[in-house]
Amino acid sequence: MKEEIIKIKEEILSELKKIKESKALSDLETKYLGRKGKLTVFLKQIANLSDEEKQKIGRLANETKQEMIRKFKEARSVISGETEAGFIDVTLPGEKRLLGHLHPITIVQNELEDLFRSMGFMVLDGPELESDYFNFEALNIPKSHPARDMQDTFYIATPHPNPLPHPQPLSFARRGERKERGQEEASVDQSDMVMRTHTSPVQVRGMLKYGAPLRCVAPGRVFRAEAIDAVHEHTFDQMEGLMVDKNISIGNLIAVMKELINSMFGRAVETRVRPGYFPFVEPGIELDIKCTICLGKGCPGCKHSGWLELLPAGQVHPRVLEYGGIDPNKYSGFAFGLGLTRLAMMKYKINDIRLFNSGDLRFLKQF
Ligand code: PHE
Repeated sequence: MKEEIIKIKEEILSELKKIKESKALSDLETKYLGRKGKLTVFLKQIANLSDEEKQKIGRLANETKQEMIRKFKEARSVISGETEAGFIDVTLPGEKRLLGHLHPITIVQNELEDLFRSMGFMVLDGPELESDYFNFEALNIPKSHPARDMQDTFYIATPHPNPLPHPQPLSFARRGERKERGQEEASVDQSDMVMRTHTSPVQVRGMLKYGAPLRCVAPGRVFRAEAIDAVHEHTFDQMEGLMVDKNISIGNLIAVMKELINSMFGRAVETRVRPGYFPFVEPGIELDIKCTICLGKGCPGCKHSGWLELLPAGQVHPRVLEYGGIDPNKYSGFAFGLGLTRLAMMKYKINDIRLFNSGDLRFLKQF
């Protein structure tokens, strides 16, 4: 029986070689593989064999049949000029590829990075899980300082497994200053970690790394233990800005801010400046813009005040310069903490902050 199967197989293969057109191919297929085809009929006999023989022959029979089916299929595609994947009509329009979307915060961040690079600023990065030292201490907010309550902090229960010693702030002699500092800083537990509440720690990291003069921005996520509503999120984005050089004043700060706002909105947006308090700047200011969603009438996006706090800023506190290893007698600087999330809300007229982290594709597809 085995020989017979092989014989039929060879017969088929040699006849297949001669076939040149599809009608003849179909006829040949019917002749061997059709319901009454030669191979089909022959294989039916296997059912009458003893179990032992069935086992021996069955496998060969099956394999041969499958092989022949494959051969016919190949022959058919050769004859009709088709490829394995089927006929390709090269004149058809291509399949549309779905593109992803940039998150609105990413768009705003990219634009700002370009703008600041054009003004000679570096773009820096810093850790989201930050040490208490950089998030507070080095920004002139010691442990017991009431300003710690300005931001609701996520303190991390697990201490840093391998804390590096923090650099001691340089103490530059200043007129009228008698007390030597250094003692209080030494008591900071270097393993205390927080989720950074702002991007300001990157100011100090940047100063320590690059020294003065320095121009940098640092975009990134920040975290606060907030109750969430239309304007509050536990995770949002800021962009820190820092410029340190000789004779830097609030005038430089306001010029850069105006440049920033005009380029962001592509038009002049009404602004107002108020005094603001942050321990790491002196003096500190708050720059507000007229709400671009309601144009000042009042809406949930601006807490119905018509104005939005957009840019807290100020002259870098001399102590913070010292923490960054820069001599405040020689250098001064300004810093600002731009609310990227808030800016994206204003720019795209998004009236609920919760949409940003929602992962809702209907929201993201609009950008
Ligand atoms: N880091 C401050 C905050 O998030 C903002 C700020 C940055 C203020 C820089 C002044 C200067 O609240």
